[in-house]
Amino acid sequence: MKFSILIALSLLTAFATSSSVALYNHRPRETGRKQLSEEALIVGGEIAPEAFAPWQVSLQNQYGNHFCGGAIIADQYVITAASCVAGLQKNNVKVVTSTNIWDGEAWQYEVEDVIFHCNFDKPLYHNDIALIKLTTLIAYDEKTQNITVVELDELKEGENLTMTGWGSSGVGQDYPVELKKLDVTYITNEKCRKMYGLNRNDIDEGHICVQPPSATGACHGDTGGPLVNAEGLLVGVGNFGVPCGVGFPDVFARLSFYNDWIRTNMKVNLFAFGETRIIRSNLEALQPEKSRPESRVIGGVAVSEGTAPYQVSIQNIFGEHVCGGSIIASQWILTAGHCLDWPKKYLKIVTGTLNWTRPEAEYLVDEVKLHCLHNKPMYHNDIALVHLSKPIVYNRHTQPIKLAKRNYLNDKDKLILTGWGSVKPWGNYSDTLQRVELNYLDHKLCAAHVRNSAWLGKGHICTDTRPGRGSCIGDSGGPLVDGSRRQVGVVNFGEPCAVGYPDAFASVPFYYAWIQAVMAGSNIC
Ligand SMILES: *[C@@H]1O[C@H](CO)[C@@H](O)[C@H](O)[C@H]1NC(C)=O
Ligand SMILES: *[C@@H]1O[C@H](CO)[C@@H](O)[C@H](O)[C@H]1NC(C)=O
Ligand SMILES: *[C@@H]1O[C@H](CO)[C@@H](O)[C@H](O)[C@H]1NC(C)=O
Ligand SMILES: *[C@@H]1O[C@H](CO)[C@@H](O)[C@H](O)[C@H]1NC(C)=O
Repeated sequence: MKFSILIALSLLTAFATSSSVALYNHRPRETGRKQLSEEALIVGGEIAPEAFAPWQVSLQNQYGNHFCGGAIIADQYVITAASCVAGLQKNNVKVVTSTNIWDGEAWQYEVEDVIFHCNFDKPLYHNDIALIKLTTLIAYDEKTQNITVVELDELKEGENLTMTGWGSSGVGQDYPVELKKLDVTYITNEKCRKMYGLNRNDIDEGHICVQPPSATGACHGDTGGPLVNAEGLLVGVGNFGVPCGVGFPDVFARLSFYNDWIRTNMKVNLFAFGETRIIRSNLEALQPEKSRPESRVIGGVAVSEGTAPYQVSIQNIFGEHVCGGSIIASQWILTAGHCLDWPKKYLKIVTGTLNWTRPEAEYLVDEVKLHCLHNKPMYHNDIALVHLSKPIVYNRHTQPIKLAKRNYLNDKDKLILTGWGSVKPWGNYSDTLQRVELNYLDHKLCAAHVRNSAWLGKGHICTDTRPGRGSCIGDSGGPLVDGSRRQVGVVNFGEPCAVGYPDAFASVPFYYAWIQAVMAGSNIC
């Protein structure tokens, strides 16, 4: 049983290294990334054209290193191999979409839950399948789409299938950065077992075997990665294989067999979870600082003394800037709901300064009023009020701002956004308060341009994004102010700079009645 030993070894290796190694694609160790030519990376495979497999995701660790593949099968779910994610903390798994270059600019999602098949690895090498539930919905675009899982198994011997992945060149080696595709043919399990010299229980009805073209070997793809049929249906996710160039099939989990399991375990219940931080991270944030453009404030300028006296910095008691906000009454701060993840006793409000590290005055928080439908549906009603333990002392640098009672804005009206720039979870904030001029974007136009129209509700207003300007500045919770110095919006969500998507704000006129009622002591929604 020489070959089962080989398989066992490769599996054991994978587990011992926290699943950071593809289970197949075991290539000779001497092929290092630098000397790898395209042919050496995937023998007989090709670089996949852009958007060739928009359902393909790269699973990465918190340092942005690829370790497995997966496929988007619903707005909030990715399917992969259980062996990819076994033993990992969900915080240490990121799902990267929309790219063929796994270390390039892309969209990154956080993981809410990993659902393993309850019989994963029982018996050994079986039921190697898992669902990853993301904390937010995936934004679909031309490079990001779901794929339908096949329902019935109608695979015929010799049928053409396509696998994609960033499969490594060997245990512990770097992964090629460009997505590869490889055409393979379906072979029956019986034939597969014969080729491996395995018995019925080792490769069973939960597996699919494919044969790569001759002389290309079985060292392609990526554990967890998708296997797709000619109709564009997902038929398998990568499970295991043996070293390449020796003519052995690759083995996938057979998704028609797991279809019921997938359906029952995928509770598509978009609004059932609690507060979720808005994810607008982008892999750029993971690159060393020096390699990225000055992105915090694009086209912005430093605010001059006394021109935004309503701006506050919401900080934790350790003096770290968390969000922006605005003074709207002597004891009230307006901000975004997603800013208030910290318990109120850990928060303070810094006023009267352009440099958030140098507070002129600080106030403690005695009450936090989150909109009762905050984040229901997701990204909606992201507005909150903070009540201070004592009245703010007004001066030249510290003044309240008037609120806009109705939306009188027209497309392209000029608006001013101020902030210390906290749009990136890992980015440093700007010391000095920045301001940028943005243009109001009509709601209909905005709905047509936002990446996922479900994100945008009646309670949002938008500003447009011009390349090289505006969209990166901002500070969640911070104020958007019109030409006559009335606040019209509260920063809600945006997208990384200069990619052409609008920024969205909670509309102050829309929530005006709510704001007034809460300040008057009512508990209305
Ligand atoms: C797949 O995506 C389409 C839009 O691209 C959407 O209409 C459909 O509901 C999605 N399917 C699932 C299961 O999420
Ligand atoms: C699979 O693809 C090859 C090459 O494109 C083609 O010649 C062959 O007929 C296909 N086989 C089937 C069963 O469709
Ligand atoms: C902001 O204040 C800090 C000290 O708290 C100082 O080191 C920094 O230089 C100031 N930034 C600017 C731009 O003045
Ligand atoms: C960001 O802040 C950290 C901690 O203060 C510092 O070590 C790092 O150099 C900063 N990066 C930049 C680009 O300023």
